Amino acid sequence: MTKKGFVSLVGAGPGDPDLLTVRALRCLQKADVVVFDRLVSDAVMALVPAGVSRISVGKSRACHTLPQDQINELLVDLATPGRRVVRLKGGDPYIFGRGGEEALELRRNDIDFEVIPGITAAAGISCYAGIPLTHRGLSQGVHFVTGQLQHGDAAAIDWRCLAKPDTTLVIYMGLGNLPYICAELIAAGLDTSTPAAAIHRGTQATQQKVISTLAGLPVEVSRAGLRSPVATIVGQVVSLSEELDWFTNRGEPAIEDFDHESLDLARA
Ligand SMILES: C[S@@+](CC[C@H](N)C(=O)[O-])C[C@H]1O[C@@H](n2cnc3c(N)ncnc32)[C@H](O)[C@@H]1O
Repeated sequence: MTKKGFVSLVGAGPGDPDLLTVRALRCLQKADVVVFDRLVSDAVMALVPAGVSRISVGKSRACHTLPQDQINELLVDLATPGRRVVRLKGGDPYIFGRGGEEALELRRNDIDFEVIPGITAAAGISCYAGIPLTHRGLSQGVHFVTGQLQHGDAAAIDWRCLAKPDTTLVIYMGLGNLPYICAELIAAGLDTSTPAAAIHRGTQATQQKVISTLAGLPVEVSRAGLRSPVATIVGQVVSLSEELDWFTNRGEPAIEDFDHESLDLARA
């Protein structure tokens, strides 16, 4: 324990443990307790040293093991007696991760903290799915949006602004609303034939990728039986996904796959 508690809000990336930052790994090695989400992969959790307490706070759309305000309180309560707390979150803490809310609660309770970025789902899965988020001649920019449309959010969304043929759209948490989202984008002017992809557990050995068009994606996703977590990418860049797919049919990797034993840092 430290004299005064300290919380590291750490991004765990999209699942492949090799995508964890060095800083994230060092935080795990110094932790007294790790508070983690459902999105954090087992392979990343395997890097938490034996003997460090682990608290799962769940968080999925249908099942919140702990509501956000109780997670905030838990972090304060754990840190107050002087513990080093790692709050491990899928992807990046500040992209649809509610990291800002947790940081504010810590600040208001006079608990010192740091925020360690992680590779967000959009960045990780696009690389592993062969989809450059921007590409000269195909896409000049990228939008990250949430597809979890609750409490009238749907009406507030500016679909016209999102339905740009020369921009890539990445939709987080959109699986449940995919038919509605695709229909709204088409109604706002995006061509039905716009390439679109849905990726389940991107960057992980169990990654599944469904490639279709904006009009066809909901049916194809349901046919493939994709389950959460799924991120959706819409835009002309998706047309490159077969040609640039290095992950699905990868042969011998240039660097061997992750091996805890060979990682000196993991033993430090
Ligand atoms: C609550 S958001 C958290 C996002 C996270 N903070 C980030 O930066 O990636 C959860 C959503 O992220 C997306 N997601 C996260 N990891 C993913 C992965 N490995 N594969 C596909 N989608 C993922 C899914 O859309 C999922 O519903």
